Amino acid sequence: MSRRITIFDTTLRDGEQSPGIALTPDEKAEIGTQLDRLGVDIVEAGFAVSSPGDFEGIKAVAAAVERPTIASLARTRKEDLDAAAEALADARRSRIHVFLATSPIHMERKLRLDPEEVVEQARWAVGYARSLVDEVEFSCEDATRSDPAFAARVCGEAVRAGATTINLPDTVGYCLPEEYAAFLREMQRLCPELEQATLSVHCHDDLGLAVANTLAGVQAGATQVEATVNGLGERAGNAALEEVVMALRVRKGTFDCETGVNVAEIGRSSRLVEELTGYRVQRNKAIVGASAFAHEAGIHQDGMLKDAETYQIMDPTELGLVMSLPLGKHSGRHAFARACTEAGIELDREALNEAFARFKRLADTRKHVTLADVLEEVSVR
Ligand code: KIV
Ligand code: ZN
Repeated sequence: MSRRITIFDTTLRDGEQSPGIALTPDEKAEIGTQLDRLGVDIVEAGFAVSSPGDFEGIKAVAAAVERPTIASLARTRKEDLDAAAEALADARRSRIHVFLATSPIHMERKLRLDPEEVVEQARWAVGYARSLVDEVEFSCEDATRSDPAFAARVCGEAVRAGATTINLPDTVGYCLPEEYAAFLREMQRLCPELEQATLSVHCHDDLGLAVANTLAGVQAGATQVEATVNGLGERAGNAALEEVVMALRVRKGTFDCETGVNVAEIGRSSRLVEELTGYRVQRNKAIVGASAFAHEAGIHQDGMLKDAETYQIMDPTELGLVMSLPLGKHSGRHAFARACTEAGIELDREALNEAFARFKRLADTRKHVTLADVLEEVSVR
């Protein structure tokens, strides 16, 4: 039986940590409602203690969003945990996501805590959080630069204290896919308590490997994936939700996993997040970039006109996206002829050849050739 992968969306928390993004409570509620339609399982709505606006944002999401569990991030401090629980009070199902770093550099230089203090804080915070909400997730921040034996000890304590999910993030995006998979396998070997919890992955894109690492994590046994719409997130971003979901779907034969995501909502979710965050999606980004299903080269356009599977491994219309055959210097006669026909212009063979030759000369001098340019060329005759 195929494994069900839980999708933990952190667009409204890690995604909002992208420099320059600040969503209002209403905007968070609007995106949260769309994430519900998209079919994610958990919406991490913010970091309650970080600002009054974020507290209100979590409240707005908890009140508006029906089906998914709503989560708030929290450090291991009482004020963080109390603020998270208060912001989540209206959620139908609530989760506090407690995090504490376990790597030597974070413990020594940032937290200034010794390892025993880290173990104790994790144990206390998870136990306290468990008394406040339905579910507790514990993250070893900077897990992949931690001593696995120490991280395993902290995770064991967290599970015994009541954590239902353990997340092992590649916080600084340093891992290679095979290293991340090996790390997760080692953690499962060293920490038998992980069998009683959901194992989660959370990857950053500093080396452009967030999605690859996430998928490697799934192959190593993780059953929760943390991701963001359009790959937003701290620094270079997080694993892009749409890329992870489509990789699991297109390569189902390899992963044998499924998610609850309704892929028909991918396009709409991406456009809403782009509009409300002001973060433009890179043109050639996988799945949701403007060029992701655009075919310009003549040979490709010819193939696409004969059978879309020649150059597409997904059907964009199923995702709420569109395929296009833009006209440009690499375009071929078939796409040019189609553009003319679509514009209601019937040309005989000779006229088409002549118009096409003119079009090619024009396309060599311009980055974009529109249908209007084509019409102009044709009407010159
Ligand atoms: O990247 C990270 O480590 C995080 C944690 C708070 C889970 O975002
Ligand atoms: Zn993160």
